[in-house]
Amino acid sequence: MTQTSAPKPIRTAVFPVAGLGTRFLPATKAIPKEMLPVIDRPLIQYAVDEAREAGIEQLVFVTGRGKTAIVEHFDTAYELESTMRDRAKALDVLDPTRIQPGNLVTVRQQVPLGLGHAIWCARAIVGDEPFAIFLPDELMIGRSGGTGCMKQMVDAYEKVGGNLISVLEVPREDVSSYGVIAPGTRDGNLTEVTGLVEKPKVADAPSNLIISGRYILQPEVMGVLGTQGKGAGGEIQLTDAMAQMIGRQPFHAVTFDGKRYDCGSKVGFVEATLALALARPDMAEETRAMAKRLLAE
Ligand code: G1P
Repeated sequence: MTQTSAPKPIRTAVFPVAGLGTRFLPATKAIPKEMLPVIDRPLIQYAVDEAREAGIEQLVFVTGRGKTAIVEHFDTAYELESTMRDRAKALDVLDPTRIQPGNLVTVRQQVPLGLGHAIWCARAIVGDEPFAIFLPDELMIGRSGGTGCMKQMVDAYEKVGGNLISVLEVPREDVSSYGVIAPGTRDGNLTEVTGLVEKPKVADAPSNLIISGRYILQPEVMGVLGTQGKGAGGEIQLTDAMAQMIGRQPFHAVTFDGKRYDCGSKVGFVEATLALALARPDMAEETRAMAKRLLAE
């Protein structure tokens, strides 16, 4: 199924950030997990940078208690800026944190009922426009010199419209931790999605292609979420609502050309930190030498 008229542009990105981050306790007792830094940027900054690269400027954070540091991060810090100015320090390090007035909205998810419920909490802001979703735990880095994940998805969306999710292959024994697609025909980086199932048993999984934390969805999904019952793990699952859209609207998976780091896990976090350090001209040489030294010990 393909779209006939030009699809509406994606202007809004929703970031579900209400999670408690218990896997990183005690680090996340007083700091949101999205504020844990990978080198010198908090995790949430990478997702916001990726949204902006894709031309998305309106940011919606679905937050909860104890998450105000995320909003502070994207606010103007007058004291800090004036102190830095007095000390003749360049202010451009703060550029990624600057948001146009009015472009940052927060809504609260008062009860942790699942990812689908978190997205539904943003329904009044999303309105009747298509929108993007970023799960900030997943750090997606485009292939060197290439574009990021959401930009790749927006490029694909401009051709096929409808709903898109990013997917990647995992070893079959790992599928039960994720949403899994039933793939239809493939054309380049686009695969038709014919079914979706959240956290299936290995034996029941329709493929080993998992949903990897980036979505472009049509607003009708909000209506489906509004009446959605509990799914896997007793939570209101976004995957279940998306599955209802298949057949009604175009639905494709984009195979991301780049690397995904699972910063929801400790080892994934370390991997992301090392990989990004090794890719940075100002750190690569020293990091490589340090890693060699450590491995030799
Ligand atoms: C969520 C989604 C799942 C997706 C995963 C990616 O699961 O429900 O479909 O594959 O993110 O990380 P969670 O990690 O919240 O259990």
